[in-house]
Amino acid sequence: MIQFFYFLLAIALAFSCQSTTPEQTRLNHQLEELQRKQVALEQKQYVPHLGWSMVQLQTYHAKLYFAGAAKNWELAAYYVHELEEALEEVQKFHPVHEGIKVGQLVEAIALPSVEKVEEAISQKDVVAFSTAFERLTLSCNQCHQSAGKSFIRILVPQNTGLPNQDFRPTSQNTKP
Ligand code: HEC
Repeated sequence: MIQFFYFLLAIALAFSCQSTTPEQTRLNHQLEELQRKQVALEQKQYVPHLGWSMVQLQTYHAKLYFAGAAKNWELAAYYVHELEEALEEVQKFHPVHEGIKVGQLVEAIALPSVEKVEEAISQKDVVAFSTAFERLTLSCNQCHQSAGKSFIRILVPQNTGLPNQDFRPTSQNTKP
C-alpha cells in the first residue's frame, strides 16, 4: 500500500516538474524581484504637493494662452499636452485632498474643457480657441469653488507673454 502511495507521489512530482520548467521558475523569480523593486520605487518616489502641481498648471495655463494668442499652434499643442499631463498627475497623486474628491473633479470638470482646447488647436481656430480657453479657465475656478478654495481665482491672462520666452511661430521669429 505504501509503495503504491510513493508510486502516486512520484507520478505527481513528475507532472508538477513538467508544468514548471527551470526556465519558468527562473522567470517567476525574476518577476517577483521586479515587483518588489517596483513597490520599493513607488514608496520612495517624490510626490508633488497639490499646491505645487497647481503652480505648474497655472504656468501651463498662461503659456498655453500666449501661444494660442500668437497663433503658434505647434507651441499651443505642446502646452495643452503639458497641462493635460499635469492634470493627470493631480488625479494620480491626489485623488482625494482634504476630503475633496479632486480626482473625480478633474475628470468631470477639467478634462472635458481641455479636450475643447485641443480641438480648437487642431483646427487652428482662433475664435474657438478663445471660447475654449475661457471655458477651461472657468473649470479651474469651478473646481476651486467645489474644493472650498473660491479665494483662488484664475483669469484669462490680461496681457501677453513672459519677458523671457518668444511665443510667436518660428516663421515670425526675427531674432537669431
Ligand atoms: C480638480 C480640482 C482643481 C482643478 C481642476 C484646478 N485646481 Fe487649482 N487648486 C485646487 C485645490 C484643491 C487647490 C488648493 C491646494 C492646496 O490646498 O494646497 C488649488 C490651488 C491652486 C492654486 C494656488 C496655488 C499657489 O501656490 O498659488 C493655483 C494658482 C491654481 N490652483 C491654479 C489652477 C489652474 C490654473 C487650474 C486650471 C488650469 C486649476 N488650478 C485647476 C483644485 C483644482
